[in-house]
Amino acid sequence: MTYETLLVETRGRVGLVTLNRPQALNALNSTVMRELAAALKAFDADKEIGAVVLAGSEKAFAAGADIKEMQTLDFVDSYLGDFIGGWDQVAAARKPLIAAVSGYALGGGCELAMMCDFIIASETAKFGQPEITLGVIPGMGGSQRLTRAVGKAKAMDLVLTGRMMDAAEAERAGLVSRVVAPEKLLEEVLTAAEKIASFSLPAVMMAKEAVSRSLELTLAEGLRFERRLFHSLFATEDQKEGMAAFVAKRKPEFKHR
Ligand code: CAA
Repeated sequence: MTYETLLVETRGRVGLVTLNRPQALNALNSTVMRELAAALKAFDADKEIGAVVLAGSEKAFAAGADIKEMQTLDFVDSYLGDFIGGWDQVAAARKPLIAAVSGYALGGGCELAMMCDFIIASETAKFGQPEITLGVIPGMGGSQRLTRAVGKAKAMDLVLTGRMMDAAEAERAGLVSRVVAPEKLLEEVLTAAEKIASFSLPAVMMAKEAVSRSLELTLAEGLRFERRLFHSLFATEDQKEGMAAFVAKRKPEFKHR
């Protein structure tokens, strides 16, 4: 499949999707989001892929939803068409999805990064929810996922003032898992993705599911959910292989990779 707004490639067992609308700092229009959903769905269905990386350009991961596309929308059109509703499909990807963020991740760009399982940022990254400066509020999860990631105080600060936060502040706040030099970003993210893709895929996908559910369940329900998944992995050949390899002091050869 060819894409108008994305570059899609594979690096070994890793799928790499790069947003490619440089003239608009990767602003997210309906074409980008439709193509992104299709690319992630294809990687989810591809047995040769164990993890996916989502990247932007050096200057911008994505500068938000496309303001030029949405400026003339009215309430009835946006409500009846459920504008933005379908973009949550990114968060529905079942395989691990890592965001490689360099430069601007603003508005929908920050929200898109937060739909990924974790974010590795370059020192140049700038995160923010500037929707308030446009007379609106975040619409792709900024008020919800950001608050869960960084807590109420910082989320309120960012959403109400529209200010940007740099990579160091984002790491301190828990929004990003690592910050690296700009020239090392892609290498660092691909290495993490390759590592994930080398493990047993059912275990990886269940680990993702368990951590993701922790944001939605009570502790008691979450612990029960985790234990059910943990028990179920004892039905896999990869559990036997992983533990036998440990005991025999050799590298495991996972079957479901
Ligand atoms: N939508 C559409 N076009 C955008 C865009 C966006 N979100 N962000 C940047 N662009 C376009 C600019 O219009 C410009 O295009 P032209 O050359 O045709 O004028 C091009 O990208 C380059 O941008 P700038 O000249 O502005 O670049 P800069 O380096 O001076 O500034 C910036 C960079 C600070 C990121 C600035 O572009 C900016 O503030 N962008 C908008 C950020 C924003 O408000 N994002 C939130 C959008 S609303 C949203 O996302 C809603 C939601 O929750 C779903």
